[in-house]
Amino acid sequence: MNQLFRRKQYSDNDTSTNLLRVLGVWDIVFFGIAAIIGAGSFSSLGEAVFRGGPGVILLYLICGFACGFTALCYAEFASRIPKAGSAYTYAYASFGELMAWVIGWALIMEYSFGNIYVAFSWSDYFTSFLERLGMHIPDYFTCSYTEARKAFQNGSENKELINAWNTAPLLGNLKVIVDIPALVINGLITWLCYRGVKESKNFNNSLVILKLAVIVLIILVGTAYINTENWTPVSLETGIPSFMPNGFTGVMSAVSGVFFAYIGFDALSVLSEETKDPQKTLPKGMIISLVVCTVIYICLTLVLTGMVDYRKFDGIGDPLSFIFEKSNANVAWMELTISFVAIVAITTVLLVFQMGQPRIWYAMSRDGLMPEKFQNVHPKYKTPAFATIITGIVVGVPIIFTDKSFILDFTSIGTIFAFVLVCGGVLMLPPKEKIKGRFHLPYINGKFIFPVVFIGGLVAFYFWQPEFFNHLMNWSDPKEGEFRASIFFFIIINLVLCIVAFTKNLSLIPLIGLSSCLYLLTGMSHDNWFYFGIWFAVGLVIYFCYGYKNSKLRNTTQ
Ligand code: ALA
Repeated sequence: MNQLFRRKQYSDNDTSTNLLRVLGVWDIVFFGIAAIIGAGSFSSLGEAVFRGGPGVILLYLICGFACGFTALCYAEFASRIPKAGSAYTYAYASFGELMAWVIGWALIMEYSFGNIYVAFSWSDYFTSFLERLGMHIPDYFTCSYTEARKAFQNGSENKELINAWNTAPLLGNLKVIVDIPALVINGLITWLCYRGVKESKNFNNSLVILKLAVIVLIILVGTAYINTENWTPVSLETGIPSFMPNGFTGVMSAVSGVFFAYIGFDALSVLSEETKDPQKTLPKGMIISLVVCTVIYICLTLVLTGMVDYRKFDGIGDPLSFIFEKSNANVAWMELTISFVAIVAITTVLLVFQMGQPRIWYAMSRDGLMPEKFQNVHPKYKTPAFATIITGIVVGVPIIFTDKSFILDFTSIGTIFAFVLVCGGVLMLPPKEKIKGRFHLPYINGKFIFPVVFIGGLVAFYFWQPEFFNHLMNWSDPKEGEFRASIFFFIIINLVLCIVAFTKNLSLIPLIGLSSCLYLLTGMSHDNWFYFGIWFAVGLVIYFCYGYKNSKLRNTTQ
């Protein structure tokens, strides 16, 4: 049994402390914005707005809050393990092999599956850019099969998707609908990673400035076209104008799209060895970048939902240029500018994720948890060649068989799950001695504060939404049943946490991170949980059939 919890020791020779400490608060903020803002703001914002209406800004606040606390937990992890790495590396040293494998397996969702969504978004902006230049790719070559089929079956108003379904050529009985630009960009990015690309700080900074400049432009120009009545659309169900036309359940159903926009901040934790005075600089930089991104997302949501009725965002993958289309604000130069900048911005996100995944596999393979082939380094390009090609395949094949919303849900549930493990993991770390120049998560005793805040919040929520609580056990309701069931389990788990916090004096910051990430999971549908369960089970089978037997620690601990 204790074989499952065998831990990897990192010797001091592994340290990266020879790195120069050059990064200040604003460098961290820049890195943060570079990693965070991408397809989430340029693309998944549309789906989020469609589901939740203008009220989705509440969800951006909740996600920003959860991510802020999780970021601090990542920083704590990073500062304890004297080696740059991902959550996988940290977990291996702190909790042992099984947990490390589970996190490594969940990270595949963040990196590879995340990139499938990003590739779809890239394709949306690329095709809309070509369209502005008068070049048209047939609709059935710019979307996925399942997306077009779903749009047709649900009677969607999205003309491109319906047209793709109706005009697709036939191969036997099968309609040929495939997102060619998404496949091509994945091929190109894989090739670039295979050949090796050098990251350049200056290039990175100019891209961040470009991204921010275009977002500010959208907010400024878009504000002139806002019709404030759009902020309180009439709810189809109640007939009453409301900021949350689909209720709070509608807002929570947008969690995947909203959370996706925050993914990437975890990458900041690895910068602790290169940060000046990391104890202060790192948390400040992380929190500022999350606050900046949250403010940006809220402004963008207000502009989008103010300019265009939220219902029009169904299936829209390029919402920021969509609002300036002929049928909306009709500002042609904005459409063209936004499409172009989005293509560049999204390409950089693709690169970062596509480079991250092979390196995690490389580390897992070095530990014996993945086949040795994943350590193959290209003799000339010095890149993890085999792992890079496999990443290209793992991203490319689902582009043919899945669709954006499935992938978005899958990525978000896997990543939130990894965050839950990280926050929960930090709670279990033993106290450490303070070392000057390292980051330390401040310890605030959660014994009383956590139970008081949680139970107080619950009571306040009860008075705000008594109806919801009175029907908490009615899980068969077609609209709210799933959400109620999830909230029920969320409450039970948190009550247990209150007891443990009280008896064990748990640290408040990771406790809040854990609880808020668990809350985000309540927005996931049962279908998401079902597919996630399958994924998780497959991961465990692979571990027990391969990793458990081949682990490099097997011989040392037996
Ligand atoms: N947050 C990253 C993006 O939005 C994943 O593209």
